[in-house]
Amino acid sequence: MKFVYECNDCHAVYESEEVFYQCPKCAALNDGTSFAKGNVIVKLDEQYLKTLKKRTELSVADFLPYAIPHPDCYPVGNTPIVRPRRLARTHGLNNLSFKMDSALPSGSFKDRASQLIAAQALHHQETRIALASTGNAGAAMSCAGAAYGLEIILFVPETAPANKLMQSVLYGATVVPVKGSYDDAFALSIAYTKEAGGINRNTAYNPMTIEGKKSVSIELFLQMGRSVPDVVYVPTGDGCIFAGVYKGFFDLKEAGLITKIPHLVAAQSRESNAIARAWKTQQFNNLERATTRADSISVESPANGRMAVRYISESEGWATEVDDREILEAQLELAKEAGVFVEPAASCAWAALKNDQRMIADRFGENVEVCVLLTGTGFKDMAVFDGQIKIPEAIENSVAAMKERFAL
Ligand SMILES: Cc1ncc(COP(=O)(O)O)c(C=O)c1O
Repeated sequence: MKFVYECNDCHAVYESEEVFYQCPKCAALNDGTSFAKGNVIVKLDEQYLKTLKKRTELSVADFLPYAIPHPDCYPVGNTPIVRPRRLARTHGLNNLSFKMDSALPSGSFKDRASQLIAAQALHHQETRIALASTGNAGAAMSCAGAAYGLEIILFVPETAPANKLMQSVLYGATVVPVKGSYDDAFALSIAYTKEAGGINRNTAYNPMTIEGKKSVSIELFLQMGRSVPDVVYVPTGDGCIFAGVYKGFFDLKEAGLITKIPHLVAAQSRESNAIARAWKTQQFNNLERATTRADSISVESPANGRMAVRYISESEGWATEVDDREILEAQLELAKEAGVFVEPAASCAWAALKNDQRMIADRFGENVEVCVLLTGTGFKDMAVFDGQIKIPEAIENSVAAMKERFAL
């Protein structure tokens, strides 16, 4: 499939048969104090997209710039849609759905990007992929690497929590702790790729990460009988998932398959709100400190902040901030009232929707179709429950003892 790259900031268009990362002119302006410039958008051939409207059979693969080799070896996609009946009733949202990306192979949405990056590497006959990550992206890339036999070099800040790295080590990646911050690990991984070759998968730096993530929107469209929700809630840190969600709907619109992109809502923790703040103020300053307990969305300098803010506006969406208490309460509510167990980053999106619920019903009516992206499984971060959940002590082996203990 033909495609070009367009700079999100200066809109210059680049044609390249090689692996392409950033707009060199805009990236050269980055000084580390404000959101990075120079990320590029993969633009699919418009004429090709228009041919898709006439097809009776459509699949996500029709929209991807690289063919996915042996998709059954690392099956990414077709995640379930849950219609949570009890929560829908309690919150007066008749058409509420959860897109369960926690069900992907490594347990998070990041498998979508990693699958396309693996395809990119194989297409260009590269066998090594480097990236910086402290969590889910690293685990997903390592999982894909194990499935396809690719070498994964994962740069992490030395302070990265061990439990988050465990999965990557288990999948066989080379984990390289770096003295310094996540930004230092990010820069070092790029320097390493420049010297040693291979592909760099850093989020948003490699535009195929966004392109891979767009599959969720196309999948939703197909699963919902060629229609899309009115509003989609997206847990947001770097803004890469947000941009991917937008891009999927954008391609569907370009193809003439939908007429309107859903309103996209960037759900952020108040303790890590760089993108929400930038959308409100149009000032693109990095945060001094992000402290949210939802560590997958704890970001000071959002790698794809500028594109995410642009897409909030272009989808006529908005940003909603919630505090950590609301995020953790939402996590427990999802578990207890819907049987859905997700990590705090994901429950941030549900907390944000609860926060907006009255506004949404007033603005769109109670039959509004709202989808919440649940991006990571709760098993990723069991440490969040340390000291919170008590497992009862064993009883004597009798019904009487059981009745006495549990008042049943
Ligand atoms: C589970 C989960 N949800 C949401 C996000 C936020 O995605 P982004 O940083 O692209 O905004 C991440 C990112 O790591 C994640 O792992």
